[in-house]
Amino acid sequence: MTDINRRHVPVLSQDVIRYLDVREGGTHLDCTLGLAGHASQIARLLGPKGHLIGFDRDPKALELAGERLKALAEELGGRMPKVTLIGEAFSTVADHIAPASLDGLLADFGVSSMQIDEAERGFSFQTDGPLDMRQDTRQEVTAAQVVNEMDERDLANLIYEYGEERRSWRIARAIVRARPITTTGQLSRIVAGCAPSMNSPKGDRIHPATRTFQALRIHVNRELDEIQKLLEAAPKLLKPSGRLVVISFHSLEDRIAKDVIKDFGTKGVWTVLTRKPTVAEEEETNRNPRARSAKLRAAEMLAPGKSGMGRKPEYKDIGSARMLTGFAQLSSGKQAPTKKDKPVKLKKKQGSGKKPRLRE
Ligand SMILES: C[S@@+](CC[C@H](N)C(=O)[O-])C[C@H]1O[C@@H](n2cnc3c(N)ncnc32)[C@H](O)[C@@H]1O
Repeated sequence: MTDINRRHVPVLSQDVIRYLDVREGGTHLDCTLGLAGHASQIARLLGPKGHLIGFDRDPKALELAGERLKALAEELGGRMPKVTLIGEAFSTVADHIAPASLDGLLADFGVSSMQIDEAERGFSFQTDGPLDMRQDTRQEVTAAQVVNEMDERDLANLIYEYGEERRSWRIARAIVRARPITTTGQLSRIVAGCAPSMNSPKGDRIHPATRTFQALRIHVNRELDEIQKLLEAAPKLLKPSGRLVVISFHSLEDRIAKDVIKDFGTKGVWTVLTRKPTVAEEEETNRNPRARSAKLRAAEMLAPGKSGMGRKPEYKDIGSARMLTGFAQLSSGKQAPTKKDKPVKLKKKQGSGKKPRLRE
């Protein structure tokens, strides 16, 4: 087992398994294999008649996930389900998966620990590497091209919209002046130069380059568009009573998940299982800081004859026998989240329809 494999901890894994309601012989799709953390847990429960399908557009991730699942097959022997791995963007699921064939669909958005940890992938402002940020390394556009070629105003808009960064105009100007920028370290220092030091009273609590890197990553990988397309395709792919589980890591992702899940709930396509998103408990966030910003939302397709337009979104308390919800007593003995545990209310999206100022 490599170092990366050993370090990998899938987020909210118990909640994922409970919400997916994985049963022997089922067919489950993991749209974001990563290092196959969640996928391995699902595979253990599917049994020999089950089928695990996995997507990842990052060829390296797909290879590592394949190795992990192969090791699991050796451990499980005849109890291993059939596995199909697909190296494509999850926006294309409907081209690969038969309608109404899935018992469960999981998506754990964002970047994997492998992508962040490997400096040469260019995702991290904490290590120096080429400005790349592509998950699908076969695609042409890299972060370096965006940073060095985009018009200043468009760059400011991008950083404002996708990074929710109020200093976007100042950062865009500093970037344009410093061109050419070729490394993550160089970009990180330029952005940090536009903000007060983290140690000063006016300094941010997060690294000043966090939001700009997030904005570039979202743009390079068309992340929000991908999520929208996946979630819109999901109802066609799930069987009656099939489950959807999605985990988001920032407000732009979560807003899409929340809206699409609620919208299909209103249309009587599925029952929303999470009135409020499920978040990690302190014990998990202590172990795995990435879990701090994770929000899980889930839905269950309605049985035939029960679906229909014009219904209010239905919220189902599925109780301890099968699973948990954001407001039910949990079967693991966990209490329903207290007010303190609830995620903070989402801020209204900045910049909608409003252009950031480019000059002071
Ligand atoms: C947060 S990681 C998933 C970790 C995984 N759940 C695990 O337990 O190991 C996200 C993964 O999804 C992949 N990914 C993100 N967006 C994608 C997309 N639109 N299509 C296909 N794969 C995507 C990334 O390459 C990355 O490997």
